[in-house]
Amino acid sequence: MKKKLNVLMLFYSPYQKPRGYDYRQEFADPDNMYTEKDVLGALKSLDHDVSLLGIYNDITPLFEQIKENKPDVIFNMMEVFSGQSHLEKNMAAALELLDIPFTGASSGVLFLCNNKALSKKIFTFHKIKVSRFHTYYRGKRAGLPAKFKLPVVVKPLCEEASRGIAQASVADSGEAFLERIKFIHEHMQMDAIAEEYIDGRELYVGVLGHKQVTVLPPRELLFANMPEGEPRIATYKAKWDDGYRRKWGIKSVDADKLPAGLLAKIEDVCKRAYHALDMDSYVRFDIRVDANGDVYIIEPNANPCIARIDELALSAARAGMGYEDLVQRVLDLALLRHENNH
Ligand SMILES: Nc1ncnc2c1ncn2[C@@H]1O[C@H](COP(=O)(O)OP(=O)(O)O)[C@@H](O)[C@H]1O
Ligand SMILES: [Mg+2]
Repeated sequence: MKKKLNVLMLFYSPYQKPRGYDYRQEFADPDNMYTEKDVLGALKSLDHDVSLLGIYNDITPLFEQIKENKPDVIFNMMEVFSGQSHLEKNMAAALELLDIPFTGASSGVLFLCNNKALSKKIFTFHKIKVSRFHTYYRGKRAGLPAKFKLPVVVKPLCEEASRGIAQASVADSGEAFLERIKFIHEHMQMDAIAEEYIDGRELYVGVLGHKQVTVLPPRELLFANMPEGEPRIATYKAKWDDGYRRKWGIKSVDADKLPAGLLAKIEDVCKRAYHALDMDSYVRFDIRVDANGDVYIIEPNANPCIARIDELALSAARAGMGYEDLVQRVLDLALLRHENNH
């Protein structure tokens, strides 16, 4: 029988709110904190005791909260700290110091996943296919290595949610490449990475577990009305602008019609990628499969979106794992990791 747990749900709040703040209004906003609402609903229906804590840029309320009411486990939904996504890893590191089990990726895994070049270097060592890439730091001269095949995708080195990714990110000339690098360096004030464009199907693969892992059935992003010749990529608009998605027929579906053998290959690649990064919680890999059936990891998403409508939960449902089961599994993995670390 499942144990009743005292769970502290920790999440990012765009404004620092006092402890004990009533988030009902924020959670009810379908465009706002719907993930928090979903997780809270699941934790409650699983009959756990739940406390809520939103943090913006001050972690003292976390220490106060823990002193007053030490949780069995923290459901960590802090993807951003002080408006900065790269500090996600630091938050996990703080939780590690507190020595309380917490859900999702460790600080080390978040560190490897935040930088789009680092994880690729590790994958290459493990002979997991990634596109050829090169990093471009601000203040240094930028040029494409001679062996690169155009087009290339130019992205911020350490960003997520397709921030900074538009159709113009796919550069088919040296000039277009330089222009996009300039945009990322000067407009976004970030370092950049350029990767060879992998033409093919875009799939999302959830994996969860600790040593024994489960690969969930892939989801696929379709671009039904995108004109021939236009790059088919998950730009910021393709992810977040409903009107744009409707216009170009962009939607994600269960990935059907995967040729025989391909599913097994995807599962094998994703499992190996999971272990290569020493993961022990849950992840969503963004992958592409080219015309030869070669499987490329575009990026690992540690602590991916976990609302009911997100790819991970939809894949889990397809595997027969309901939303509550998924949330419970994530809690169990947190407890298991903590136990194994002692
Ligand atoms: N090398 C690549 N080849 C083809 N498409 C790519 C490549 N890199 C990124 N993309 C497209 O851009 C999207 C966003 O890139 P990704 O690295 O996943 O950034 P983010 O962390 O912002 O999601 C991908 O989902 C994919 O559609
Ligand atoms: Mg991505």
